[in-house]
Amino acid sequence: MDGFHRESDRRSHGTRIPAVAARTDSKRKEVQIMADHICPWWMGYLLVNPFRRLLENPDKLLGPYVNRGMTVVDYGCGMGFFTLALARMVGPEGKVLAVDVQQKMLDGMVKRSRRAGLADRIVPLLADSRGAGIGDAVDFIAALHVVHELPDAKNFFSRMREAMKPGARLLVVEPGFHVSAKDFRASIEAARSVGLVVVGELENGRRRRALLQTA
Ligand SMILES: C[S@@+](CC[C@H](N)C(=O)[O-])C[C@H]1O[C@@H](n2cnc3c(N)ncnc32)[C@H](O)[C@@H]1O
Repeated sequence: MDGFHRESDRRSHGTRIPAVAARTDSKRKEVQIMADHICPWWMGYLLVNPFRRLLENPDKLLGPYVNRGMTVVDYGCGMGFFTLALARMVGPEGKVLAVDVQQKMLDGMVKRSRRAGLADRIVPLLADSRGAGIGDAVDFIAALHVVHELPDAKNFFSRMREAMKPGARLLVVEPGFHVSAKDFRASIEAARSVGLVVVGELENGRRRRALLQTA
């Protein structure tokens, strides 16, 4: 199943991103972001390093699930390492809804998408507690290295499920060095509890993946 296998090699490599203490009142928003274990915006520049393709090739990872003309979501898009690849895959007739909770990540992603001539098929959306308005006609959702940063995974999966068309799929990838096997399993249980079905799972030292589908 597209590089997935089931219930195998469940080892724990998990550590959490450390919280960073508050420094100034004027930076309250960024401090809050760090306190909540959210990837700091400047990390966005590191995450779009082209050498990352050697470890995590967006075409190989996402290609099996994305076709031309689809409406897809890149949830927690950062500065767009996967967003731009998704935009190429859906083509000019498709759409990528790129969601992030940090405006600076979205700004970086938009800048890169303009340079690549792909901005017209990408909709940047700032996430809020109600879920950024991604509608209810989504064919595919990529949640890549983001679920461990969310305050409430069950709430996230529930909102994503509402947005997914019947038969749509949601790919969760988490980094093995941040997320223990136990925590990963807990997230996937949260997805199951809102009615998403696990159709593929892969775990190894470096990363953890689950492919979910609407029933
Ligand atoms: C580790 S980065 C991964 C970025 C991108 N998916 C990648 O792999 O390059 C996690 C991203 O998720 C975003 N994020 C964290 N919490 C979020 C939330 N509640 N809603 C939307 N995005 C969120 C962060 O701002 C950050 O850009």
